[in-house]
Amino acid sequence: MQNLYITRKLPEQLVGQLRPYYNITEWESEDTVAPTSFTLAHIADAHAIWSNVADAIPKEIIDAAPNLKMVSNLAVGYNNIDAAYLKKKGIILTNTPNVLNNATADLAFALLMATARRLPQNIEAIRRNEWGSWSVGFGLGMDIAEKTLGIIGMGKIGQTLAKRATGFDMNILYYNRSRNVEAERMYGATYCDLNTLLQQSDYVVIFTPLTEETRNLITLNELKQMKESAILINAARGGIVNEADLYKALNEKVIWAAGSDVFETEPISSNHPLLSLQNFVGLPHIGSATIETRQAMMQCNVDSLIAGAKGEPIPYIVR
Ligand code: DGY
Repeated sequence: MQNLYITRKLPEQLVGQLRPYYNITEWESEDTVAPTSFTLAHIADAHAIWSNVADAIPKEIIDAAPNLKMVSNLAVGYNNIDAAYLKKKGIILTNTPNVLNNATADLAFALLMATARRLPQNIEAIRRNEWGSWSVGFGLGMDIAEKTLGIIGMGKIGQTLAKRATGFDMNILYYNRSRNVEAERMYGATYCDLNTLLQQSDYVVIFTPLTEETRNLITLNELKQMKESAILINAARGGIVNEADLYKALNEKVIWAAGSDVFETEPISSNHPLLSLQNFVGLPHIGSATIETRQAMMQCNVDSLIAGAKGEPIPYIVR
């Protein structure tokens, strides 16, 4: 029997499927990171690791697990893992592609709408008894329909967002490493360079993975290219947008508003500077957080881990 280390407590309904194939050690908590000493002590004989996206798997952890054959990451993104080093060592990496496209695109569009129509601020206004009567200037937001949406990163999730945007008669621009002919054909999306996208979009939504090339992709320089009335939404990863620059841009009304589901360092606390701004909406990295989607994500990992233990083709391998 092989050994599996799970970096967080996960539902027994999923973990139980793995018990016939693995001796399992798991960190006792669902929402805290295991101390490094605990991880190091338990991966020494691990053949596989099932990792939470918020748990780092750097070179040191990989080197501390000499028998390691597979890391299964509970996310589609894997910037928490030294994937290049795994590849170099011939260790398989698996993720959870496709099953979260709808949930993540829904959340991005919900955040776009909440930021544009200032939903959290207006809900707060009721709570504070600031709702005097219906008045022409109270609670104002921005129109969404028929505006220009610029999508940075037209992968599967970006494309799923484009599909939603067509229901709002939005004009869609996109910037991507390569053309996405399907998105162009199905949603009328137009390929352009980053500067054109920033200059022409009313809404800019980021859906690109965090890599060395995309780190700090959006700094004050890029924000200054956007319209003063524009809204930036980051539903991808913290680190793609420079947070200090975003704070400055929002504070000085360089752009109208921003919404973010992700932060440079997570979790953030209530004293994070962005949360002090009236034109910012923050969410706690809940892009894929629906009951059905999280279940499907965990099942992707379970299926890969079982296939690995049986020596069968691995279904959700990262190439
Ligand atoms: C992912 O899959 O990368 C998501 O961000 C996790 O919610």
